[in-house]
Amino acid sequence: MTKTVVVIPGDGIGREVIPVAVKVLKAVAPNIELVEAEAGLETWKRTGETLPEETLELCREADAILFGACTTPEDPSAESPIIRLRRELDLYANVRPARSWPIPRRPIEEDFDFVIVRENTEDLYIGCESEVHPGVTVAMRKISEEGTRRVAEVACDLAEERGSDRVTVVHKANVMKLTCGTFKRVAREVIESRGLEFDECYVDAAAYRMVIDPGSFDVVLTPNMFGDILSDEAAGLMGSLGLAPSGNVGDDHGLFEPVHGSAPDIAGKGIANPMAAILSAAMMLEWLGMREEAEKVEEAVERTIEDGVITPDLGGNASTEEVGEKVLEKLEP
Ligand code: NAI
Ligand code: MG
Repeated sequence: MTKTVVVIPGDGIGREVIPVAVKVLKAVAPNIELVEAEAGLETWKRTGETLPEETLELCREADAILFGACTTPEDPSAESPIIRLRRELDLYANVRPARSWPIPRRPIEEDFDFVIVRENTEDLYIGCESEVHPGVTVAMRKISEEGTRRVAEVACDLAEERGSDRVTVVHKANVMKLTCGTFKRVAREVIESRGLEFDECYVDAAAYRMVIDPGSFDVVLTPNMFGDILSDEAAGLMGSLGLAPSGNVGDDHGLFEPVHGSAPDIAGKGIANPMAAILSAAMMLEWLGMREEAEKVEEAVERTIEDGVITPDLGGNASTEEVGEKVLEKLEP
């Protein structure tokens, strides 16, 4: 059956890197039907909405979504499209793979290949903050058994797909005994019931270990905020945000996007690294059951890097277009 993918380029470099990823998708999976939709700051300026109903409806009906990046409007009444999509489509697991690449100036010599699975709907990000006394503010942290269970199942699925035998749960249950304690306990139950080894690490120790010995990680499962921070650290280890792909997945929907934002500082210059967008498209192909095609894309990216056709963020001088052309060339048999 033909799969339908909604493509939302968004703003800034989203509009530069997503068209390149789309060319790669068309080359490797010509049967996918692509539907373009709009969201973001430019859309808001024109329509007063950051995420028009029409776009949301298309996303609900699609098999998957490829998302670029949107500039968050400064007006506090304008909601971030990606946060709304995560909520509306119940995309409860944020999957962020990290691996070493053969770039000229590697931040770290050790080879690594791990994936962070970050809970995507709870934690301090539920937006429940208040001022309890003048000058004293508090935030509510939500960790539920069900929220933990479902994201832990995703981490276990990934461990099985990768042929891993263990999942490392990153938490701080020594301090946050109730919230992190729940996360740890439920994650452990799920991991052990799936016949996998439960491994654990406090978040501060995990941040340290990620720099000293990233090769020791495999599948990392963590609550929302720790995952947000650790996955940017992981992108730094890879050498650039321009290499970091991600997937937001739930039971019924999957949205794939580069980790980076709209990068106004380099937008319009034609030098944005399209690899994170291309690798996000590859993750999407894998999620849609097209593993062979996904692997082909990842290999083409690796061979493009080996040839030195890389953008300035990785120490090269190629343009966004040139990287895209080289990846397409490497896809050919
Ligand atoms: P950013 O990720 O856009 O940029 C951070 C730095 O990394 C910049 O120096 C940028 O030039 C560089 N960079 C990012 N992607 C790159 C690429 N593909 N190639 C080369 N260099 C790259 O983060 P920033 O500046 O904090 O945010 C800019 C805007 O994007 C903000 O409005 C923010 O709210 C939004 N944003 C949106 C996201 C989304 O829609 N999912 C995610 C993150 C930020
Ligand atoms: Mg972030």
